[in-house]
Amino acid sequence: MNCTVFKTAATITALASFTVAAHSAPLFSAREAEAKALLARMTLDEKIGQMVQVDSSALKDKSDVQKYFLGSVLSGGTSDPASGNTAQDWLNFVNEFQSHALQTRLKIPILYGIDAVHGHNNVDGATVFPHHIGLGATHDPKLVEQAERVTAQECAGTGMRWAFAPCVTVPQDPRWGRTYEGYGDDPEVVSPLGVGATIGFQRKELSADPTSVLACAKHFLGDGGTSNGVDQGNTICDEATLRKVHLPPYRAAVEAGVGSIMASYNSWNGEKLHGQKYLLTDVLKGELGFRGFIVSDWAAIDQINTNDFKFCIERSINAGLDMIMIPNPPGKPNNYVEFSAKLKELIAAGKVPQSRIDDAVLRILRVKYEMGLFENTAVDPALTASIGSPEHRAVARQCVRESLVVLKNEGRALPLAKNIKRLAVVGAAADDLGAQCGGWTVDWQGKHGDVTRGGTTILAAIRQAVSPETQVTFSPDGSDLKNADAVIVVVGEAPYAEGAGDRKQLDLPEKDAVLIAKAKATGAPVVTILLSGRPLILGSALDESRAFVAAWLPGSEGQGLADVLFGDFKPTGKLPRLWPASNAHLRSDDREAKPLFKRGSGLTWESGISK
Ligand code: GLC
Repeated sequence: MNCTVFKTAATITALASFTVAAHSAPLFSAREAEAKALLARMTLDEKIGQMVQVDSSALKDKSDVQKYFLGSVLSGGTSDPASGNTAQDWLNFVNEFQSHALQTRLKIPILYGIDAVHGHNNVDGATVFPHHIGLGATHDPKLVEQAERVTAQECAGTGMRWAFAPCVTVPQDPRWGRTYEGYGDDPEVVSPLGVGATIGFQRKELSADPTSVLACAKHFLGDGGTSNGVDQGNTICDEATLRKVHLPPYRAAVEAGVGSIMASYNSWNGEKLHGQKYLLTDVLKGELGFRGFIVSDWAAIDQINTNDFKFCIERSINAGLDMIMIPNPPGKPNNYVEFSAKLKELIAAGKVPQSRIDDAVLRILRVKYEMGLFENTAVDPALTASIGSPEHRAVARQCVRESLVVLKNEGRALPLAKNIKRLAVVGAAADDLGAQCGGWTVDWQGKHGDVTRGGTTILAAIRQAVSPETQVTFSPDGSDLKNADAVIVVVGEAPYAEGAGDRKQLDLPEKDAVLIAKAKATGAPVVTILLSGRPLILGSALDESRAFVAAWLPGSEGQGLADVLFGDFKPTGKLPRLWPASNAHLRSDDREAKPLFKRGSGLTWESGISK
C-alpha cells in the first residue's frame, strides 16, 4: 500500500499553532534524585514488581499487589468491578488495590490504567466523546485538549491516574477494525491532535495536580500501516515510509511531555515490535529522547515466541520495554507470578542486565514522583461527582458539532426548519445509544441499546430540537413515511473493537441501502446520517440522499447532531482521511488517486454559529 501523505492547509495551521515550547530541563527530572535514592533501597523483587502490570480480573487475591510489589493494575475492556459499573463501584475497586500497594515496605503507589479512549468510557454514566476519527474531523487541537481534560477529571474521580490514550495511530487501510481509534490517515492531521490530547490528560508535562492523568501514546510503531488492515498484522514498508507516516505523532507527543508509550502488536517487515530494540530503544528512547516508560500491550510479549515465554521476557525487556501488561491469573500459562520468577532467573543468568532493570524501574519511579503519587493518592469527591456532569457533557456536545462532516447538501436541504410540519425519522440506529457510541463503551466491544446512563440518542435530540407543532414519526424499518416533509435516515455500523472490526469489504450494509431507497421513493428530501468508524463504500446511497452527513461515532451527546441539522451550529468538520470510491480503490497502490472525497472535504452554510 503506497503510504504517500499530502499536507492540507488546515492541518498545517493546526500544527503550527501547536508547536510545543522547548523544555528548560530534561523532562521528568525535577524529582530524579528522589527516584534514584528509592531505587537504591529496592530489592530485586521490589524492582521486578514495579515492571509488572496485572489485569484486575487476574488478581483474584488483591493482596498479590502487596505480595509481588506490583507497580500497576489495569482494567481491560471487560474487567469490571464485581459490584457494578458506577463511578463509586470503580472508585472503591481502585482504592482496594491501592491500599494493598501502600502497605508494602516502601509504600510505592500503583498507577491504575484504563482505556479511557473516548471519555472515561468504562464507567456507566460517564461522558462519552466522539471516537478519535470524529475528533480528527474537528481539526481542533484545543477542543481535543478540552475533551481530554474532562476525561482526565472523570478518570481521576475514580482513582485512575493513567489513561491508555491518545491512540496516535495513522490508519492507512480503513478495513482495519481500529481505524476509528486514529484521528486520520495523515500524520499532519494526527500529530497536533495527539499533542492536544497529551496536554489535556497530563496538563502539559506531568504534574502533581491530582487531576493530572498519565497519557499513553499508542501503539508504537506503525500499527496503522498493517497490511490489508489486518489487526496485529505486518506493516510492510521501508524505514523512510515508517518515519514519514507513523513516527511524527510520537515525536510530537514526546516533545509535549507524554509520560508513557504503549508498544504495538504489529510487526514491521516481519519482526514483532515488542522485540524491536532498534525502534523501541535506539529510535524512541535515543533519537526522540523519550524519558517516560514503555508499556507492553495486553499479553503482547507472548507473541514474540508462542512456545517460549522466558525468551519473550528476555527479548522484550532487552528491546526496551519497561512495564509488561500481564492479564493471566495464576494457574494460566504466562501469568504474572511466572513472569517475575523467570525474569529473576534471566537476571541471575546475566541474560537481562541489572542496568536494564534499573533503567526501567527508574523511568517508572520518575513518572510516579512527578505525578505526586507518593504524596497523595486520595480522590477529591467533587471529581467523582463531576462524572457525566452537564458541564462535561457540554464539551462533548461541542465535539460532536465540530466532528460532523457534511458531504452533500443538494438544494439546501440542510439546515432543516425547526417548525417543519411532518418529519419522519427512520433507521434503528436513530434510537440506539450503543450504535452512536461504538466500541470501547462500558464493554470492550460496545453493544446496542442503552449502553450508558445519561446519554441522548439522535431521535431524542431531534424531538428536543423541533417545535411543539412538528409531528416526528420514528420507524426503524421505514414503515412510517407517510406525508413526510423530510426524512432523516440514520444508518451505519454495529459496535466493534479491534480485530472484530476488520473487514474485507466496506460496503454500506444492504439493509441501510434499502432504507435510504425507501425514503427516496417518498419524494421528500432525504437526509442521511452515517454512524461509522470509518468511510464506507456508499454505492447509490449518496445519490439517493439530498443531504449526507458523516457523523462517525459521536458518543453520548446526540444533541450535537441536532444542533447542526436544525441550523443552530453551522458545520465545520472536514474529512480527516480520504473517502474511498470503491472496494477496488481500497486495494489500489495509489490511495490518493481519485477518492470519492479528498481529505479536507466538508460543506458548510452561512446560518448558525460556528466554533
Ligand atoms: C488492547 C489494546 C490496547 C489496550 C490494551 C488494554 O488489546 O490493543 O489499545 O490499551 O489492550 O486494554
